[in-house]
Amino acid sequence: MSDPVLRDTFGRPLGSLRISVTDRCNMRCRYCMPEDEYVWLPRESILTFEEIARLVGVFGGLGVHKIRLTGGEPLLRHDLPTLVDLIARDARITDLAMTTNGLLLAKHAAALHRAGLKRLTVSLDTLRAARMLTFAKSERHGDVLAGIAAARAAGYDRLKLNSVVIRGFNDDELADLLEFGRANRAEVRFIEYMDVGGATRWSMDQVVSQREMLERLTGRYGRIEPIEGDQGSPAPAERFRLADGTTFGIIASTTAPFCRACDRSRLTADGTWFLCLYAAHGVDLRERLRSGASDDQLAALLRDTWQQRADRGAEERLAVRARGALYPIAALRADPHREMHTRGG
Ligand code: GTP
Ligand code: 5AD
Ligand code: SF4
Repeated sequence: MSDPVLRDTFGRPLGSLRISVTDRCNMRCRYCMPEDEYVWLPRESILTFEEIARLVGVFGGLGVHKIRLTGGEPLLRHDLPTLVDLIARDARITDLAMTTNGLLLAKHAAALHRAGLKRLTVSLDTLRAARMLTFAKSERHGDVLAGIAAARAAGYDRLKLNSVVIRGFNDDELADLLEFGRANRAEVRFIEYMDVGGATRWSMDQVVSQREMLERLTGRYGRIEPIEGDQGSPAPAERFRLADGTTFGIIASTTAPFCRACDRSRLTADGTWFLCLYAAHGVDLRERLRSGASDDQLAALLRDTWQQRADRGAEERLAVRARGALYPIAALRADPHREMHTRGG
């Protein structure tokens, strides 16, 4: 019998879709948006909620069961609970999550939860307000903390916190962030600084590797156990447990990429479909949607494209000898789809 699962050239299924709902952001994190000016996607190119929901239906028919809303900052998109509700109605989508910087979360957490958003990840790189100001050009550290508290109160009991670790910036806060996660019943994931599009100040010496993070945490807490059963899963984080039971994750995309198990693709706010975080080109789904393509035609396009997929961008970066920023600023301005904040992280 033929395999009913849609697979790419490496046998990877299409399981997960990251949907960026806006390319705008109300922070300027140094690892993602360090420049003063950006080229934004034209307003009329941004997909409506109905267009997104229709694409979700087509992706759902091809095996996508996991959706994560991203941005930019997704909460800058007005009326997001309406989109959540549209997606949550699709019974094939069994995991609906969002990654947010938390600034607007206190206001929206309860409505999102009621609409059907069940999992949430909040970015939190530092516990020090003054650091956030220099690092992300935002004075609103208190709003992020309030957002995390509101999320817990709204019923998000599998809350995750993302901390991108950068040498010389926040690598002295690993233990503090872990303690904060423990106190707030949220699982911290330390992320290696990645050389993605938009990370124009990236250099290898600022990357704190998974190995170094584990060494430092072992020095502080003693033996750290890898959590069995997670290996081989398509989730990017490897999870660990301290002797006292506290768990945390490390996402080692830079030094130990997980392309082999990658079941994800991403849709930008203007409907461009990228099969890899590092891919040079995407497929314009908006043009097809707006010129009257049927669901069957869209499904055929997605199927054919996925079957030819051979991307392993992060693994290929490992082979680059003089590794620096992926794109110079002029190349990012020429096509904002190359930016991490457009592509959805
Ligand atoms: P769950 O698996 O549902 O927990 O979500 P996630 O960890 O995929 O989502 P999140 O938005 O929290 O992303 C965490 C980190 O992983 C971010 O730094 C992302 O940029 C990075 N990341 C997400 N998807 C990919 C991917 O496909 N490839 C690589 N190399 N990194 C990714
Ligand atoms: N390296 C690692 N993680 C990054 N993110 C954005 N840019 C980078 C980068 N250069 C993360 C954000 C957020 C997620 C969606 O992507 O911190 O948690
Ligand atoms: Fe998947 Fe590309 Fe990320 Fe590798 S770099 S895990 S192939 S999206």
